[in-house]
Amino acid sequence: IGLAMTLVEPGTNVVMINPTYLLYKPTYEFFGARVNEVKVTIENEFNPSPEDLKRAVNHETRAIILVSPDNPTGAVLREEVIRTAVDLAIDYDTLLIYDEAYKHLYYDGQHTYALKYDMEHVIAMDTFSKDPAMPGWRLGYVLAPKEFASTFAKVKQYININPPTPAQYLAALYLRKYKDQYIREVLPIYRERLNSVYEALRSFLPDASVMKPKAGLFIFPNLDAYLKRLGLNDESFAQRLLKEKHVGVVPGSAFGDAGKNHVRINFAKETPERLVNGVKLMAELLTHT
Ligand SMILES: Cc1ncc(COP(=O)(O)O)c(C=O)c1O
Repeated sequence: IGLAMTLVEPGTNVVMINPTYLLYKPTYEFFGARVNEVKVTIENEFNPSPEDLKRAVNHETRAIILVSPDNPTGAVLREEVIRTAVDLAIDYDTLLIYDEAYKHLYYDGQHTYALKYDMEHVIAMDTFSKDPAMPGWRLGYVLAPKEFASTFAKVKQYININPPTPAQYLAALYLRKYKDQYIREVLPIYRERLNSVYEALRSFLPDASVMKPKAGLFIFPNLDAYLKRLGLNDESFAQRLLKEKHVGVVPGSAFGDAGKNHVRINFAKETPERLVNGVKLMAELLTHT
């Protein structure tokens, strides 16, 4: 919100992916931005093509917003996509806002930092909500070019004058002392949960398209083949799944219309057994109705 308040004037243009983290579009539109969306699909591992990204940016663009690893899709953006976005930010003298909330939670491969390409046109955002899993403590940070950061610091005071002091002490302790150990302990647990939910989706819902995410906390299967047969969509399915089977998923269209007929499953919090059971219950509803 702070970034949107700092950057956007009515009519300015921002570029973002569809589907992606669900707060960006409404927040930027609330402050008057026009949003140019670049649609992504599971076939291209939810990465935009560099050409589509180039087409979406123009001289009115104040920010290109990318999330990697992404929520809900689990996409990790390829190096060439990040490079293209940085180059566009430089060429159009605009900013790449790069949300890296899940940058420490990789199961395969490594994070690409956009800042390594340019520090004048990249704003990197992170939060302590994902690691060390303290979302209720409301603490995050941005790394931004100096001039922008000084304006942002003033604007941010209208949102919260200062971030909670106990959260700052905790985060400092985490960074100084516990981060490596925390990541070492938590990653194998999340990886096992991811493997369980992924394998269950493959075996119980063979007609679903599923991308195994390389990072993050979410898997985002496309259930189009099943939902069409049943005359359901992602929203009506998610509601029935909750009411009839007591399984909670988030309908994909909440993240943009290109998320239609997908569902977001958070695999971080449940045991492998409960995840497998949840997918079995999904399959019961999708195949026996
Ligand atoms: C990609 C992404 N960015 C930002 C956030 C927001 O984090 P916080 O709750 O710490 O503001 C989330 C939380 O779900 C997220 O998934």
